[in-house]
Amino acid sequence: MEKTTVLEFLQQNLQSVEQVLTQLKVLSEPKGLYEPVSYILDSKGKRLRPQLTLAAADAFSGDRDVAVQVGTAMEVFHIFTLVHDDIMDKAETRRGRTTIHTKWDEATAILVGDYLMGKAGEMLLALPDQQLRSGLERFSLTVRELCEGQIRDMEFETSSNVSMDAYLQMIDQKTSALIKTSLILGGLTGNADKESLQHLDHIGFHMGRAFQIQDDLLDLTADSDDWGKPVGGDLMSGKKAYLLLEALRVETTTGNSYFHRVAENGGLASTEVDKAKHLLDEMGVLSSTQNAVRHHSNEALRLAKLLPESLGRLTIESLIEKMAVRSH
Ligand code: IPE
Ligand code: IPE
Ligand code: MG
Ligand code: MG
Ligand code: MG
Repeated sequence: MEKTTVLEFLQQNLQSVEQVLTQLKVLSEPKGLYEPVSYILDSKGKRLRPQLTLAAADAFSGDRDVAVQVGTAMEVFHIFTLVHDDIMDKAETRRGRTTIHTKWDEATAILVGDYLMGKAGEMLLALPDQQLRSGLERFSLTVRELCEGQIRDMEFETSSNVSMDAYLQMIDQKTSALIKTSLILGGLTGNADKESLQHLDHIGFHMGRAFQIQDDLLDLTADSDDWGKPVGGDLMSGKKAYLLLEALRVETTTGNSYFHRVAENGGLASTEVDKAKHLLDEMGVLSSTQNAVRHHSNEALRLAKLLPESLGRLTIESLIEKMAVRSH
């Protein structure tokens, strides 16, 4: 494969991943399952996780064809988490389209998710024999972490005192776990030793934090056309995401109570979103959230510089940079 610049590498990766995703749409019967499977495979995501796998594989001279399969497995697994997450969060739109459980029904969305999780596992069989065991172990650990993080996230909705530490532990599981695994499996396709895999783990940890805190921030500040779902959704449903937790912390020092009421009432009306955004800005919450994103992306960048010099490393650095300034 000819590769010269980070941009070209990202584009080639995208093409390879889209090709494998398209190949997954061969089955058509029973339609009740495969129509929604094709529908979700057609939806446009950023494909961050496979990009990480392919970049890490390049940094450790992994086999590209294997890395394409494994990276796409990470995307398929990610899509499964989104389909089930949307049932749990009662979300009506995802990637700019109606969610599966809304367009079809919950039973269908549960099965589509199950099917995709199984498919992701099957795609990992592309790993060479000597790496297969560690790859499958890592995959199963990721499923466990994801489930633990997601149940914590749900429990926070009805819990009155969620600490920032508990929130961070929750996002490490629901989001960073898969980002770490995407990098680690990329490293595994190459000759990354234990220490290098640890290193990828630490990069993924900070990337995951930056990514989820940014997701929480964008939930209120994104442009609604790009965002693919209603802006302000987290506040409307009273989700204990980063912004609300920061606002509650600031209010305990100022004695104000607007966001305490939002938390008590389990959210706010859509007509209140603009006012809440204005208040969060005045309270310094939007800027402190942005600082937290910057802190973790800087840490990830610092660690990424220690990876073997390669196009893969430059690509990981570029993905971290882009992530910190992304708009969707
Ligand atoms: C959304 O992930 C879920 C989170 C972990 C915040 P992405 O923002 O990567 O979603 P897509 O894949 O681009 O749709
Ligand atoms: C993201 O949580 C984590 C997973 C999807 C596993 P959110 O519930 O915040 O994700 P979005 O905002 O719906 O994409
Ligand atoms: Mg959720
Ligand atoms: Mg959600
Ligand atoms: Mg979110």
